[in-house]
Amino acid sequence: MKFFIDTANLDQIREAQALGVLDGVTTNPSLMAKEGITGKNNILKHYVDICNIVEGDVSAEVNAVDFEGMVKEGEELAELHEQIVVKLPMTQDGVKAAKYFSDRGIKTNVTLVFSAGQALLAAKAGATYVSPFIGRLDDISTDGLNLIDEIRQIYDNYAFETQILAASVRHTMHIVNCAKIGADVMTGPLSAITGLLKHPLTDSGLAQFIADYEKGNK
Ligand code: E4P
Repeated sequence: MKFFIDTANLDQIREAQALGVLDGVTTNPSLMAKEGITGKNNILKHYVDICNIVEGDVSAEVNAVDFEGMVKEGEELAELHEQIVVKLPMTQDGVKAAKYFSDRGIKTNVTLVFSAGQALLAAKAGATYVSPFIGRLDDISTDGLNLIDEIRQIYDNYAFETQILAASVRHTMHIVNCAKIGADVMTGPLSAITGLLKHPLTDSGLAQFIADYEKGNK
């Protein structure tokens, strides 16, 4: 399973990259705003900065909601850097735009997916990635992981090449369970990724090894 980090924070992206397990980055307009990145030129520059830190795909979301606007904005984003993936909303115009870009060999990520039917449409349109938001489904007492399971089954039935990008991941067990189900990618915060490192028996075991080594080498 690929690991993407879901942030526009350059320090966190650098930290995840330095860990050696990072395969890409996802952003969205809210994450850009959270970092205080506003204005078209600053936003475009920020995407290039992110691409210069990581080696993998970097999802850059369009702000337009109509087909023509998405195509114009998406083409501009795709020209920024070869690692850019055009992120499009799961709407009628977004699906049309995904088909437009996939016909032209430009990578896409269809976002804000909350049902298996939406994921089926995204795959039919040739999306590179589909982003089901599991955390937001959990937030409304719906099983987000079950959606990943349903999409896995549908994509496997027909050998769709669209990759399931489990999004809105909030914690380490989301990551572990996505891996068990067979999500192709997960995107989450740095805390969820580094949380995978932690176990109290690792800490106590290491403390014991250090203490025994020091005793024997006094
Ligand atoms: C995915 O691409 C989105 O940026 C993201 O995962 C949304 O997560 P949230 O529900 O924690 O905002």
